[in-house]
This record gives sequence, C-alpha cells and structure tokens, in this order.
Amino acid sequence: MQWEKNNHKESSPFFYEGDNDLMNIEVRLLLEAIYLRYGYDFRHYSKAHLKRRISHRLSISHIKTISQLQDKILWDRQFFFEFLEDLSINVTEMFRDPECFLEFRKSIIPVLSTYAFIKIWIAGCATGEEVYSLAILLEEENLLNRTQIYATDFNKNVLNAARQGIYSNQNMDLYSRNYKKAGGKKELSDYYTSKYGSVIFDKSLIKRIVFADHNLVTDSVFSEVHLISCRNVLIYFEKKLQNHVIGLFHKSLSNKGFLCLGTKESLRFTNYEDKFTTIDEKAKIYRKKPIYSKK
Ligand SMILES: C[S@@+](CC[C@H](N)C(=O)[O-])C[C@H]1O[C@@H](n2cnc3c(N)ncnc32)[C@H](O)[C@@H]1O
Repeated sequence: MQWEKNNHKESSPFFYEGDNDLMNIEVRLLLEAIYLRYGYDFRHYSKAHLKRRISHRLSISHIKTISQLQDKILWDRQFFFEFLEDLSINVTEMFRDPECFLEFRKSIIPVLSTYAFIKIWIAGCATGEEVYSLAILLEEENLLNRTQIYATDFNKNVLNAARQGIYSNQNMDLYSRNYKKAGGKKELSDYYTSKYGSVIFDKSLIKRIVFADHNLVTDSVFSEVHLISCRNVLIYFEKKLQNHVIGLFHKSLSNKGFLCLGTKESLRFTNYEDKFTTIDEKAKIYRKKPIYSKK
C-alpha cells in the first residue's frame, strides 16, 4: 500500500491514503514478522508511536510501502537493527523532572537509610543520565556504598554509551540547573572531568552500577529490589502491555518497595492501582502494599 505525503494528518508527514484497516493489517504483519524473526515484541506498543516511527523509516530509506519495509527487515539483519534504533526513543537528561528527585530525597531516602543493603532497578535507562543522577544523589546521602543499581535497557547501543559515562559539554548548563533544583548539595561539575568538548563522570559512581540488557516485554523479573525507577518508558506501550510491565515490577519489588514512574505515567486505570499506596501524586511515587505469607 502506498504512503503519501500530507501535512494535515496526525503529527506524521506521511499517512496511508485510503483504507485505514489495510494499514493496520500491514503494521500488524510487520510486527509479527519482527517478533518471529528477531524475538523483539512490539505488538503491544502504542500504534501512534509505531506509525510515526515506521513513517520516518519509510521516508529516510525511500521505501514506498510497509510490505517492502517488512521484506527488507526480514532479509537484512543490519537494516533491522537500524529500524530498532528508530523504535527505541532514547531522549533523556540528567535530573530530568528535578522535582521527582527532590521528592525522592524527601520521602524515599529516609526509608532506604534504614536498610543495610539497597537494591535498585532503573528500567529503560537509555544512555544512563538518569542512572548517574541517582548515583550522585545516593552518594550525597551516604548510601551509594551500600547500594547495588541495576540499570537496564533493550537497546545495546545506548547501554554501551551508558557504560562510558561520557556526555556532551553542551548539556551541562541544563543538567547543572536541574541538579540544583533536585536539591543537589555540591556542584554537578564536582562529579565529572571535562575534556575536548565532553565530560566524563567519575568512575567511583559506576562502581555500584551494573548495566544490563533486559527487555521489559519478553524478559523476566528481578527479585527483591527495594526500588524501581521506570520513567518515560510506559508512554510507548498500550494499556495491556503497561499492565504486564507493572505486574513484572510488582513481582520484582520487596514488600513496601518503591516504584517511581515520573511525571508522565501513572498507575491509574491499571490492574495494580490497589496494590500500591501513593506516596507522591505529582512525581508518581508509589509503595507496594505488603503481601504477608500465610504460614
Ligand atoms: C525515553 S527513554 C527514557 C530514559 C530515562 N528513563 C528517562 O526518563 O530519561 C525510553 C527508553 O526505554 C527503552 N525501552 C523501550 N522499550 C523497552 C523494552 N521493551 N525493554 C527495555 N527498555 C525499553 C528505550 O530503549 C529507551 O532507552
């Protein structure tokens, strides 16, 4: 089926002329093909997001139809991995939504401080800015040396970048402002060294971090973590998949463990709303209600 240029439809410069049902069939076939061939399951990602990314790939690759795109994806492994980059939106920043970090300091740190050992899972960590932010915060609260942070993503390229901890100098003004708003106790520059237009974060921060490949759709639980942060990831999922992933988080959390979803996502209207207590409505910080075993 032919994609045609039109600036009036949706936010995408491309749309299907004609039968919308046929477009949905082609998108479904493409997602099935990807799942069967490569094991990546996008079948319950938001259709609006998928259509935008497919449209983008058709446009830059000069491919006319989704069927042709499917053919290329099935036979050309490298091309598939380029398309995977399109599907995984990696936009992030340090101390993003600083009010969430401020709330974290206020309501979560006093509880974590009472634990001998702390396990944290940051899901969908992209290039690692959120992870270094949390490591800095924990360092300032004297908790980093007894914390293990698991930072995961399904995109191997962003994980490699995260492991390096090297970022462009250009973003540091914004990140420093965020850091201060997040209750930062020093200067952000105390944690990095600048070189040739880039900054590299201190290796002492990485010591407590394990970066790992993990797919929220197809992989299993992490057991007994005290805190999960998953911000700006669930927005790309349909309700059914959001429920699945929140179920995974619920299973992975220890009793009274914390779940931070950030400003854009929430537990409202999910199957798990009544299994958590709301700690902060704006930062979407929740606490798992304890499950007591019957002995
Ligand atoms: C917009 S970034 C969010 C980064 C960071 N959490 C933040 O709030 O700034 C979304 C990340 O989720 C990852 N992601 C998307 N689907 C995923 C999945 N099924 N499993 C693991 N990570 C996924 C993407 O690769 C991307 O790095």
